Amino acid sequence: MSAYRNIFSLNKTAFFLATAILPLGSVYAQTIPSLKDTFKKDFGIGTALNNAQIDERDPKMTEFIVSQFNMATPENIMKSALIHPGWDTYNFEMADKLVAFGKKHNIKINGHTLIWHSQLPPFIRGIKSADSIRTFFTEHIKTVAGRYDGKVLSWDVVNEALNEDGTMRKSVFLQYLGDDFVTEAFRLAQQAAPKTELYYNDYNNEQPAKRAGCIELIKKIKAAGVRIDGVGIQGHWHVGKVPLKDIEESILQYLALGVKVMFTELDIEVLPRNFQGADVGQRMTANAQSNPYPEALPDSVQQQLAADYEALFKLFLKHKDKVTRVTFWGVNDANSWLNNWPIRGRTSYPLLFDRNNQPKPAFEKVIALKK
Ligand code: XIL
Repeated sequence: MSAYRNIFSLNKTAFFLATAILPLGSVYAQTIPSLKDTFKKDFGIGTALNNAQIDERDPKMTEFIVSQFNMATPENIMKSALIHPGWDTYNFEMADKLVAFGKKHNIKINGHTLIWHSQLPPFIRGIKSADSIRTFFTEHIKTVAGRYDGKVLSWDVVNEALNEDGTMRKSVFLQYLGDDFVTEAFRLAQQAAPKTELYYNDYNNEQPAKRAGCIELIKKIKAAGVRIDGVGIQGHWHVGKVPLKDIEESILQYLALGVKVMFTELDIEVLPRNFQGADVGQRMTANAQSNPYPEALPDSVQQQLAADYEALFKLFLKHKDKVTRVTFWGVNDANSWLNNWPIRGRTSYPLLFDRNNQPKPAFEKVIALKK
């Protein structure tokens, strides 16, 4: 049970005193310590935002987001399928709203993502020529990165170009544009968005083989005289199996290349899975065991989750001079994509806040590291 939850169940005198000191409307937000304030001197604290949150449909949710996070990544709305739905059609409405949200609430935005093999617009499937793919690639980067230059802090220019063994993934971009497409994407982004930081982002790129491939990519971009400012490690890990050693080694090796390092999509899965990683195209078939905690997370798992987050943040703090940002992939457990991937309709518990934005034991452990 959270230490902050029960201000309303204090005895009458204590409740009166508490509400007399704090303006009533903000009791909720002020009584929960703030992640962004706690780690203000260490690194940025980000979250992924969905449509409802960007639209500010629930004022309490907005207040909560603003109290906890100083950076944000759109969970979907800047992906090409959504922002560039037709060959000559762009839909900037939600992305513009996100930029306005950031400005209004002092939250820095990381654009996600320009070039990715998933969530592509349907018209891409009809394209069968290198020329047309190149035109899409060039126009997309120019138009989208250009529009938001100076308005977003950074872009995930390329997302997930690597296989697990460190070779290049056989995406539509590799197929038609060849090995250099990653460097080309950064070159175009640098021209269109000179004021924006440019990142390469992937999952499992803390694992040695994939990390080696990622290092090659970064070196190649730099050798071409093209700018790359950072590398994002998504950080979709599994409870009890967070690869701390590989993460630490990766922080050091990436930093040695002269790029910033950040954790861009952090969550720790507590549900059963028969593979590692975060390939959105990969799915699992449901069975009787696949949704073990529909009502609540058992205490033993809750404690393991807390210990994992504690160890992870201890490591981030050890390297706070090298890690620029830690972004959670969702505000609370109800928002997490892990409720629907790789199996739809499960009940997952991968974040620091529960379904009512209340702090979980993992949150307490993370905050306690700074006490
Ligand atoms: C996920 C979103 O959270 C889901 O809403 C969507 O259905 C699929 O994509 N790696 C990434 C993110 O880079 O863009 C993915 O986001 C999660 C894995």
